[in-house]
Amino acid sequence: MNGAGRPASRGMLSPMTTPPFDALLSTRARYAVPLTTPRQSMSPLFEFGGGYPDPVSFPYEGMIEATAKMMAAEGAQAMTYGDPQGYIGLRELICHKYQLFEMMKTRPENIVVANGSGQALSLAFSAFVDPGDAIIIEAPTFSGSLNTIRRHGPRILDVPVDDEGIVTDAVRERLQTLRREGRRCKLIYTIVNFQNPAGPSQSLRRRQELIALAHEYDTLILEDDAYGELRFEGETLPPLYALDRGGRVIRAGTLSKILGAGVRLGWLCAPKDMVPVLQSFLFGGGTNPFMSRVATYYMKDNMAAHVQRLIGVYRAKRDAMLKGLDEVLRDTDATISRPEGGFFLWIKLPSGTDKKRLAERAVEARIQYTPGPVFYANGGGEDYIRLAFSYEQPDKCYEGARMLAKAMLSA
Ligand SMILES: Cc1ncc(COP(=O)(O)O)c(C=O)c1O
Repeated sequence: MNGAGRPASRGMLSPMTTPPFDALLSTRARYAVPLTTPRQSMSPLFEFGGGYPDPVSFPYEGMIEATAKMMAAEGAQAMTYGDPQGYIGLRELICHKYQLFEMMKTRPENIVVANGSGQALSLAFSAFVDPGDAIIIEAPTFSGSLNTIRRHGPRILDVPVDDEGIVTDAVRERLQTLRREGRRCKLIYTIVNFQNPAGPSQSLRRRQELIALAHEYDTLILEDDAYGELRFEGETLPPLYALDRGGRVIRAGTLSKILGAGVRLGWLCAPKDMVPVLQSFLFGGGTNPFMSRVATYYMKDNMAAHVQRLIGVYRAKRDAMLKGLDEVLRDTDATISRPEGGFFLWIKLPSGTDKKRLAERAVEARIQYTPGPVFYANGGGEDYIRLAFSYEQPDKCYEGARMLAKAMLSA
């Protein structure tokens, strides 16, 4: 109490200064600070930066109905701690989804539900990667995964991707080098469909070669597939998890891109023996038991039709953005990916583009994009940018892409 009889509220405020805590940081927290995507200070008029799903595509009404239906059926059960491995209904739905879209058979006991596939991937890194361990990843690769990987402190060996996905000859070379050094690769992290950011889908030949290499060199594969259902054209290929007969593949998936990133539901699909160790890195109480139920109730009645609709939505956006870029850049030496699905275009800038000036022009026009270097573990990507066509509507994809392409030529 102060002199006037009022509580001394000052003492309850957060401290004005933070005591020095650097010396208390964990080894993991001290690893090189990851590169982050520079965000513009004004909210962008053209959001081509992150892999955000289209908010117009979210099934608002359907989710309201699913919530009511679920609560009527499950009541209080939905609002307490859940199965540590994840709600069984959702794990069954994931198995059904794999069967429906990829003809892959798996069982609920192989699935561990996590808070988005971002957390799912980090469970796998936590379970298998110690500081200093060698791992192989793609260059370029998804910047979010790269940040998580860096926090585990491994020696990162990167290999290029081409039109057929990860270059398996380069993987073999890295594995041979490690073997000569008397070392072993802990895991190979690969994004199989519509690779983020470069766009290719791994060919069947490469998938088979990668699995053969994992067996020959006694390592694991972490297969990341966040976009597989959103295939606009081309043939769906079997997942590495389905091709492997030796229990060497862990597969990560998510509902972020087909239902909504805010539901924060992803998972690992893993050989049964690995499930307990992967799950042990979760805090317990099950991941989002409530949302798992809502998502399951919605998806079990609507999944095929909803995904079919999304394919049309995202295809139109990709095509609009490609058109805008092509109209301006067609007589230049710029290269532009044409992914068969997913959310992103990967662009090699026309020779002579001044990257700093391009960034300034983009700020003026309030166009957000992601510069290439954030996708590389060991340097590179200066001549590239990634554009997400997922968030904006087709007219803005077209218009913003044209503006940015013009900025490339004048920068
Ligand atoms: C390749 C890839 N993997 C994983 C994720 C993580 O997604 P989430 O944590 O929302 O499931 C993303 C999101 O952009 C991604 O592009």
